[in-house]
Order: sequence, then structure tokens, then C-alpha cells
Amino acid sequence: MDSGEENPFLDDVLEGLAKPQKAIPSRWLYDAKGSSLFDDITNLPEYYPTRTELKILRTQAGAMAKAIGPGAVIVEYGAGSLVKVRILLDALDAPAAFVPVDISASHLQSAASELKEDYSDLVVEPVVSDFMASNLGHALPDLSGRKCGFFPGSTVGNLQDADIQTFLKTARTDLGDRACFIIGLDQPKSPDILVPAYDDAQGVTAAFNLNLLTRINRELDGDFDLDAFEHEARWNSVQSRIEMHLKSLKDQRVIVAGKPFDFTEGETIHTENSRKISLDSFATMAEDAGWSLTRSWTDEQELFAVMMLEAA
Ligand code: AVJ
Repeated sequence: MDSGEENPFLDDVLEGLAKPQKAIPSRWLYDAKGSSLFDDITNLPEYYPTRTELKILRTQAGAMAKAIGPGAVIVEYGAGSLVKVRILLDALDAPAAFVPVDISASHLQSAASELKEDYSDLVVEPVVSDFMASNLGHALPDLSGRKCGFFPGSTVGNLQDADIQTFLKTARTDLGDRACFIIGLDQPKSPDILVPAYDDAQGVTAAFNLNLLTRINRELDGDFDLDAFEHEARWNSVQSRIEMHLKSLKDQRVIVAGKPFDFTEGETIHTENSRKISLDSFATMAEDAGWSLTRSWTDEQELFAVMMLEAA
């Protein structure tokens, strides 16, 4: 870049708004405000994934712990508040260590030291890294014990096929032979349940999506009129995914970092994909990356699944 300064957010926004279907990668939804709105989403009556996954973890942690075995090293990818992993840690037989991996150093430090207060005997080794770019090769070998990845929340559903492959292959290498991996996966279901989960009556998901425009205005000198866009959640049955879009309510020109972008009425910016992948499809993807899907646990309505992969 001519300024010599790297700004990946700016690059992604300028590139994404120049596409025929305007699109901005979903990771930019999670600034401080976006992360706190997402926390609010997890408590909405319509948003079933978080509470369903928690229920599966609470009910099945014993079975998961037994399948993992004693003395394991648990590696959590994209570790957030560390609420879910406590359920697993409580059930495990003498875990050797816990390695939370997260992009946000400050968030990671505070969550890790909070956890350390309640688990004083546990070795906790936080690693600051993007879970996609994770190179844990240097952080893990000193820890002996079976390595077991933990990736709850169905965040894997935000990724495209190629990125799922990269992620699973990298984790397979990092976690080594005898590795296992516990992954949360939201399941395909009726759009009558899915659409309200991503377009709730209180408008929290709308605020979460529209916050991206506020962030662009603030950080990238944009002039988006927040009243001239609205949140849309679409079920794409061909791709088996919920798509979030921001829809322009009129013909308009928006300026970002000095560059003009024209919108026609009804034109959208695609901001997120939340794929709903069946266990069978995921098993095939896992096999291609050197894993086999050996166990899975679900709720009574089969809304959500927690899978166990083992190194093939
Ligand atoms: C955090 C990516 C799992 O896809 O369900 C929630 C994000 N977006 N409501 C999801 C989200 C809109 C969430 N993940």
C-alpha cells in the first residue's frame, strides 16, 4: 500500500464493496460492540444454538470425557469467554493442560486468568493466534498427553469448504497422532426455525448486522446512513445456509475512505454465511482432512450436534 500501513479491514471493505454482489467477511462483525451484541443474541428466545449446545455438553460431558481419556491436553480454537470448556474440564479425568487460542490478546489473558482461579491445578497456556492461521507447532510439543481440540459454537459453519479443509488439516498436524477433536455443528432444519433465529423480534440480530456500517463509518471514514439500510436473513436452500445481508432501501451513493460506491434500491451487502451441515457431509469433509467422525451427541429434536473426530 502506498501509505505503507496495513489495514486489512479497509482492504476487505474496499474490495468487497467493488464486487458485483457486494460482500464483507463476517469476522469484521465482531468489534467490541458486535461481540457484546452477539452475547445478547445467545440469550434470545429464537436463537436456539447456544442453549442447545450447552444442554448437550452438560448432558454428555461424561461420555465425552470417557471418549477422550485421562491426562489430555485440551486446545480450544477461537476461545471466547471459556464458559463451555469448563463443562468439559469438570468432567475430564486429570486433564494435563488447557490451551486457549484466540486472536484477542487482552480478552484471552483475562479469560485465562479467571479460569486459572477456579482450576488452580491445571496448566493453562494461552496462545494468541487467529484460529485459521494457527501454528501451534511450537506451543504444543512440550505438553505430553493426548491432544484434543475443542471448537464449540458451530463457528465452523461460517467457513467455506476450502477453509474447513485447511483448518482441519492444520489442526490434525498441530494436534498430532492420537489426536481428537470435539466440534459443535448446527444442523439443517426448517427455515421456520432458522429464519427467526437470525431475524429476531427484538431486532438484536439486526443491530448486530447494522453495527458493521457504524464500524465502517467510524474506522474507515464512511458515510453510511443507518436509516437507509435494513437487516435481512435469507435461507439459501441450495447452499444449506442462512445468509445475512444489509439491504439498501433506496438508490444511493456511499463514500468510504474517499471512494464512492453506488447502491440501487434493494441491492445488498452480503455479510455472513451460517452453514447448516449434516453429520454425513461433515464426516466426508473430516475424512478428506485425515480425521474420522467417531461419535456424535445431539438433543432430542436434533437441532444441534456435538461431534468427536479422531485422527485417522
Ligand atoms: C457465532 C458464527 C456461530 O452463525 O449462528 C448469530 C453468528 N450471526 N446470529 C451463527 C450469528 C447472526 C453465529 N456464529
